Amino acid sequence: MPQPCHVPVLVQQVVELFTPCATGLLVDATVGLGGHAEALLSAFPQMHLVGLDVDGQALELARQRLAPFARRAELIQASYQQLAEVLGPRGGKAAGVLFDLGVSSLQLDTPERGFSFRLAGPLDMRFAQQGPTLADILASATEAQLTFWLATWGEEKRASAIARAILRARDEGRLCSTTDLRRAVWSVTGPKRGPIDPATRTFQALRMVTNRELVDLPAALETAVKALQPAGRVVVLAYHSLEDRVVKTTLRRLSGACVCPPGSLSCTCTPMPLVKLLTRKPVTPSPEEVHANPRARSAKLRAAERL
Ligand SMILES: C[S@@+](CC[C@H](N)C(=O)[O-])C[C@H]1O[C@@H](n2cnc3c(N)ncnc32)[C@H](O)[C@@H]1O
Repeated sequence: MPQPCHVPVLVQQVVELFTPCATGLLVDATVGLGGHAEALLSAFPQMHLVGLDVDGQALELARQRLAPFARRAELIQASYQQLAEVLGPRGGKAAGVLFDLGVSSLQLDTPERGFSFRLAGPLDMRFAQQGPTLADILASATEAQLTFWLATWGEEKRASAIARAILRARDEGRLCSTTDLRRAVWSVTGPKRGPIDPATRTFQALRMVTNRELVDLPAALETAVKALQPAGRVVVLAYHSLEDRVVKTTLRRLSGACVCPPGSLSCTCTPMPLVKLLTRKPVTPSPEEVHANPRARSAKLRAAERL
């Protein structure tokens, strides 16, 4: 069977940004199917790479892809939350850390993983394949919770109506699969008409809830920045405006900028600069890249360098 292939996004830009880290230890905090890792190890023959992912299935495929670099690449099933523990016995510091957030092609294209509204599958959506599934979470969700999740993490304008439709389907025993979930969303929005499926935001929000994605991200970015050696670099790819906002705010805060809410009478965030920003505006893919790899469509890359 052909192996799922994940085409890495903005790969040239990622390689260029890590050029000053070419001889050091790079942590790919979300190694996935090893696309970025392969490009980096090929470009920099002296680089050592530690690749983390919570998804054992992805790591197995990354291991095969990175076999030619086995002497310089170490793959570990761990969360980027554990970055400091992973680095501890390896000298404690990294020359670079890469975060390529979101979902991989393997996860999206495997129906049993339950990430895709295009493919019938269970309500799972767990990156780590352990802990509560989406079905478990929905089984006890209240209307207020679900509305909040869809409005906050999905920026869904019809959050309340969609939440009610999902819970009605659940209570009537009609919410067993990804197709059922999409049907519940469509019962409010109508079916897909344009290029974007109306279920996209709901699926995205529920994936973030299932994996606590945005909740854990600021602390993970801060840990990564603190683990960088001087002039080390952190590069982050986000695929969703809210995710990008979290990255932007966290890196701005770590660069010493005041991130108090607008209108605050005095600064209470006591900024202490740890990095300088390398990207004032996010780097986005060219129309050619988006044409060749539609998954790159919403990508935004931000980078910073340790002072
Ligand atoms: C967009 S994919 C990465 C693709 C990779 N850059 C490549 O080129 O093949 C994101 C990966 O992050 C992983 N992931 C999600 N949450 C994680 C976490 N807390 N710690 C480590 N990896 C995580 C997912 O399992 C997924 O494989």
